[in-house]
Amino acid sequence: MAKRPATDVFHDWALVGKDEGMEKGHAASVSEMLEFIWQQVESTEQNFSAVDVGCGNGWVVRKLKSHGKCEYAMGIDGAEAMITKAKAIDRDTDYTLALLPDFQPKRKFDFIHSMEFLYYLKEPENMLKLFHDYWLNDSGWAVIGIDHYAENEDSLSWPDYVGVHMSTRTTEQWQQAWKDAGFENVKHWIAGGENGVTLVFVGQKKNS
Ligand SMILES: C[S@@+](CC[C@H](N)C(=O)[O-])C[C@H]1O[C@@H](n2cnc3c(N)ncnc32)[C@H](O)[C@@H]1O
Repeated sequence: MAKRPATDVFHDWALVGKDEGMEKGHAASVSEMLEFIWQQVESTEQNFSAVDVGCGNGWVVRKLKSHGKCEYAMGIDGAEAMITKAKAIDRDTDYTLALLPDFQPKRKFDFIHSMEFLYYLKEPENMLKLFHDYWLNDSGWAVIGIDHYAENEDSLSWPDYVGVHMSTRTTEQWQQAWKDAGFENVKHWIAGGENGVTLVFVGQKKNS
């Protein structure tokens, strides 16, 4: 079966309310990812900026914004109906419609958060390098969760089932990609509670 662009599929999903199901399904893993971010935030006196990449209806952007030390948070997604929905929920936040990897933000961030986005790209390793080189402030962290990867066998049928391209990598290949992109303090764990399968990677951009 011919594959459709992921952003077209998720545009359709937003139109029929499936974004809310994703929000529920991803909540446990995202709560661990946000907990990691809060720990870094609490370890300094400074305020922080953050971007959620592949933000869907913007639910994680709103969680980032709700932290008292958040001075700026925005979301980026390539599905028009997702961004329309995000803006309808919260008019005061920058939700940008953009196709990655061809979009580069006008500013840099202390945190990049991204849940279930990266493997839709044909070359996710290149996106990691762009995040590291052009999106993050010095000492900034990328915190990225994915449910489709080689060791999660249940996820291997998803590209055919959903009808979109997914880049399948092993945990070891991801680890190498993070290091090749220039990240330091790279760690990974499985998030999402007892039956969780989300492979979360975090890595820090060192001071230049
Ligand atoms: C599985 S959904 C996850 C949405 C959100 N992070 C969540 O957890 O609810 C993946 C999102 O990534 C976006 N996406 C996929 N490929 C993209 C691309 N090349 N550029 C921009 N957004 C993309 C889709 O439009 C979709 O909203």
